[in-house]
Amino acid sequence: MCEAIGKLHDRSTRSSSVKLGKQLGTNLASWSNYRLGTPTHYASTITDSSVAIVQSFKVRLARNGIGSATPLTERPYLVIGTLNFCYPTIDSYLYHDSETPSMAAKDDSIDTRIPPTCPAPISQILHHAWRHDLASLKPLLKEPESARVQEPTTGESPLHAAIRACAPANQGTLPAAADDDNDNNVEERAKAVVHELFMSGAIWNSLDNNDETPGCVAARLGLRGLYTLCVEAGVRAELLFGLLDGYEELESDDGEEGEGEEDGNAQDGGEVKEGENANGSAELGGAAEDVEVVVDSEQTFVPKRAGGPDVNSKDYLRSDLTYSDGKLVDSAQNGVMMAWETSIMRASVEALLPDLQAGRRILNIGFGMGIIDSMFAEMHPSKHHIIEAHPAVLEHINSSDSKFGKEWEASGPSDGAYKVHSGKWQEVVPKLLEQGETYDAIYFDTFGEDYNQLRMFFTEYVPGLLEEQGRFGFFNGLGADRKICYDVYTQVVEMHLSDAGLDVEWQELEVDMKDLAKEGEGEWEGVKRRYWTLDKYRLPTCTLMG
Ligand SMILES: C[S@@+](CC[C@H](N)C(=O)[O-])C[C@H]1O[C@@H](n2cnc3c(N)ncnc32)[C@H](O)[C@@H]1O
Repeated sequence: MCEAIGKLHDRSTRSSSVKLGKQLGTNLASWSNYRLGTPTHYASTITDSSVAIVQSFKVRLARNGIGSATPLTERPYLVIGTLNFCYPTIDSYLYHDSETPSMAAKDDSIDTRIPPTCPAPISQILHHAWRHDLASLKPLLKEPESARVQEPTTGESPLHAAIRACAPANQGTLPAAADDDNDNNVEERAKAVVHELFMSGAIWNSLDNNDETPGCVAARLGLRGLYTLCVEAGVRAELLFGLLDGYEELESDDGEEGEGEEDGNAQDGGEVKEGENANGSAELGGAAEDVEVVVDSEQTFVPKRAGGPDVNSKDYLRSDLTYSDGKLVDSAQNGVMMAWETSIMRASVEALLPDLQAGRRILNIGFGMGIIDSMFAEMHPSKHHIIEAHPAVLEHINSSDSKFGKEWEASGPSDGAYKVHSGKWQEVVPKLLEQGETYDAIYFDTFGEDYNQLRMFFTEYVPGLLEEQGRFGFFNGLGADRKICYDVYTQVVEMHLSDAGLDVEWQELEVDMKDLAKEGEGEWEGVKRRYWTLDKYRLPTCTLMG
């Protein structure tokens, strides 16, 4: 029965109930590593992973160590993932049958996040960060890349560690400080460490093996101050990337110099052979790459960044598209447009044309399912221009299923007033500008393009295309696959809009997540990736400044 709860670690080979009794008052390792008292039923599927496992079982908890395994309690519980036990708050980690927690619990314990297999130099940094030991951490951060190391199997970075240590169950693992009377002081110390890590080049959006950025951990644990620090770092980083974009790396002939430096380092450090730098902080510069770590390849954590695009415009514009019930998908099953966005399109129309008056001049970029164009068309505009690049969408527009074909173009109040411009906006828009076209409302919603394209559009073209009192809007899906990225991009885009001479007002809309909550289910059935995960949409309405 014991094996059923998973692989037992060395430490739990002694009688587990005794161990439990002895360790009460300290932080115990994860549930899967220990037998608690005499469980009547074990949950057979408990593993070390943090996925949600919900199963009812009964457990008796031993309170007083050897020989006194008195049942403390015996009742059915739901087990949610791998659990940490930290007496006396043990009940808060066990859920009664009647309670169904909304989120799968994550195992935030230090033993799980920084396992014994962690290479020593990385482990050292992570432990200092976890303990908020700034004095010991600072010298290590002088080594290049050291603020960016990640534990090879869990992906724990020093940022994750400093933040995660503030979890209520972990606070017992932290050294007491003179002023450590309340939780807030722990967070304050963590903030100092997080600040230092960012100043040393830590990456705000590195992902761990729970698919969490450090900011996601802060948000989950309700650590607002730490979350804000992560958002601010994200904004700084994204603004910097924005500045660097467009600059080319200058050719340099210092390749040899670089090699020389490497040699020099090796000499400085004495005879450092590959794999031998596992103990000293002095060798940390190469820690992440050089230390030979033997790990199960299936378990090896592959670091990546959150919020990166996974579709590119060139491939998208060449791919086949399928219009089906309520959605438009490309050949890789990426959702290009989906009917659940209709309420967002409606609210966008109302924000762009608040008086809903007829006779307005409208430009829409990206036809998709024609949802917003149908709404614009209902308003009997005096000019309605659509720009669309994908051949399959253009074919659809000209099919009998669409009301935007040649007949619609011919129905305009004047020649060329209603028009679908075929081609990429990057090619069409400069011509419209040249022709002196202007609009009361401009909406931008393309697919497969990165943020720089949107930025180029509103910086280089919107000021020339928009009437003085006109309004510009765009589908705000920037970073919408996680809250922190959405928060970062809201600030970044606001600054860039301001640079372009545009004011923005945000309107927050509720998104009904009932059919959007699970990957591959509900609205996402047949769609590769859930590109929207948030219950609030921030709708931007932009106007020309002053
Ligand atoms: C998300 S859909 C637009 C949905 C639309 N707002 C609606 O209400 O149905 C994006 C559209 O932009 C088009 N598109 C992508 N890149 C483009 C580009 N560079 N120029 C013009 N259209 C583009 C796509 O083919 C697609 O039809």
